[in-house]
Amino acid sequence: MADDFKDVLARLPAGVAIVTTRDEHGTPHGMTVSSFCSVSLTPPLVLVCLARSSRCFPVFARAERFAVSILRAEQTDLARRFATRLADKFAGGGFAPADDRAPIVEDALGAVECRTHQRHDAGDHVIVVGEVVDQVLAAAGPPAIYFDRRFATLDPNPVTAGGGTRGTG
Ligand SMILES: Cc1cc2nc3c(=O)[nH]c(=O)nc-3n(C[C@H](O)[C@H](O)[C@H](O)COP(=O)(O)O)c2cc1C
Repeated sequence: MADDFKDVLARLPAGVAIVTTRDEHGTPHGMTVSSFCSVSLTPPLVLVCLARSSRCFPVFARAERFAVSILRAEQTDLARRFATRLADKFAGGGFAPADDRAPIVEDALGAVECRTHQRHDAGDHVIVVGEVVDQVLAAAGPPAIYFDRRFATLDPNPVTAGGGTRGTG
């Protein structure tokens, strides 16, 4: 059942993001997520679902602020690094200079900074809802996608009525 469930979910292409925060000492923490999505426009709310078993979960469970950076196709190395339990994932760089705010991925497609709005228990995860207090919109480009347990990107051509993509002949 659990494997079938995961197989079904693997059929859903998902965008890839990195959620970050800082602990009381200012140390950054973060992980790769595909559960990032929009919730509300007024007020502007987003959510991420975080596994209780993750190393950085306790920090997010008490954080008042966090940030989410939406990754480009060429940033999948960063996504892999942040999907491990490495003690210092930030040592490898890739983040814009920041003071005491949650780190933002340098040249991410877009990013939001959030104030924690609500937390909801949801099985072995916690749904963290954030109110967006600031945002970054960078130059457009192909996004990182996670599909069928692999990193991929999008064919930017729109699907036509016949199911094909425009511009491919
Ligand atoms: C593409 C992708 C998406 C992921 N999405 C989530 C997610 O939405 N929530 C989550 O808790 N873990 C997610 N993970 C797993 C975490 O990134 C992974 O468990 C990571 O090791 C957590 O870091 P930590 O244990 O250092 O806190 C995802 C992993 C990948 C590769």
